[in-house]
Amino acid sequence: MENQPEKEVIKAIIKITHYTIFVSLLTITGILIFVGLMFSGRGESSAAETDLGTNGSIISAPTQITSTKSANTIPADAWKAPDAATIPAGKQGDMIRYGKDLLAHTANYFGPKGSIARITNGMNCQNCHLDAGTRLFGNNYGGFMASYPKMSYRSGKMSPASSRIAECFERSLAGKVPDTASKEVQSILAYMKWIGKNVQKKQQLFGAATEKLAFLDVAADPTKGKVVFMLKCQSCHGENGEGLLAADKKSYQYPPLWGKHSYNDGAGMYRLGNFAGFVKNNMPYGATYQNPQLTDEEAWNVAAFVNSQPRPHRDQHKDWTNPDKKPIDFPFGPYADQFSEKQHKFGPFKPIKEAQKNLSI
Ligand code: HEC
Ligand code: HEC
Repeated sequence: MENQPEKEVIKAIIKITHYTIFVSLLTITGILIFVGLMFSGRGESSAAETDLGTNGSIISAPTQITSTKSANTIPADAWKAPDAATIPAGKQGDMIRYGKDLLAHTANYFGPKGSIARITNGMNCQNCHLDAGTRLFGNNYGGFMASYPKMSYRSGKMSPASSRIAECFERSLAGKVPDTASKEVQSILAYMKWIGKNVQKKQQLFGAATEKLAFLDVAADPTKGKVVFMLKCQSCHGENGEGLLAADKKSYQYPPLWGKHSYNDGAGMYRLGNFAGFVKNNMPYGATYQNPQLTDEEAWNVAAFVNSQPRPHRDQHKDWTNPDKKPIDFPFGPYADQFSEKQHKFGPFKPIKEAQKNLSI
């Protein structure tokens, strides 16, 4: 009996202990649920981030970007090349098909091991005019024939379409032009005409040429561009930008970006804006306008790096004889403004643009 109070105390202690354990368990469960929720939330958001960058291995470099890619959409009524399967049968159709093949496999006909004449550097027109010149923002030929003949401010003359083709042979393919009356040039023209058969004169086409990227506030930086090159270009285009010949050794699997077999310094790609716009939506190979792999800054910087490397030179003192018409990023003077050749090559371009606006008023 004298133990009764003690027993009561012990009972009470046990009760309190049970209670404490219960409350603690509740608290711990609560904390666990809370932490669990937090982590699952995080998991969701990181999955969303990776989705934005659906690009597999390419983007795994330190300069990872999530950029504007989801914002880029192609309007439903954008120009589309006619389906190659609808090229007509017969003589005319044969010419069109031959023209397409000449653009896609130029080196087989005109390269250093070409079957017709050995007059070019071994590149194909298609290396820059992607998918035989049918790709939006890939230098397509959609509006080309409708816009010619036109005044060429580069040559200072009214130019027929054939002379624009000749220019790419002489500059981009750093070579000579086949006779413009030849079956080959005429077939190329036939194909280009067929491609653009639904395009009217003066029609503005979405995705023509390459995207005009916004100017950076600073000059494009070849040193930073070299890093982009090493991470995102070198694996295909080679350590020295020399490219890689295809197994048949006639044309390139990966075309050169500089060196003696590349485009010369009179080519369109030598202008920083053209290069940056091209790579932004097409390189590394597989990138598209809807899913680019480079930021604008990376595109400008890699353009600055590649176009600072050695390549064939072309005498251009007769080009752009009217300095008012010179493109802002044409890197050879004289200019209508006071900016240096260096600034016209690398930027910053905004001050030049401003000055040009004032000039033309
Ligand atoms: C190294 C890249 C490159 C290669 C290779 C190349 N081109 Fe071009 N081409 C360009 C660029 C860039 C432009 C447009 C920029 C500019 O010069 O204003 C262009 C413009 C053109 C145009 C004018 C398009 C228009 O709508 O006004 C034609 C036509 C053309 N190229 C034909 C050819 C042909 C034919 C070949 C092969 C013999 C060829 N190109 C090879 C880069 C290239
Ligand atoms: C996965 C391989 C691959 C990678 C990586 C790659 N390219 Fe290309 N590149 C190609 C191929 C293939 C072509 C030719 C496309 C065709 O003929 O259809 C090409 C064409 C080009 C051209 C036009 C032709 C020429 O040689 O002048 C340029 C410029 C270019 N690439 C720049 C770059 C830059 C800059 C990078 C890095 C940001 C890059 N490429 C990364 C495969 C690649």
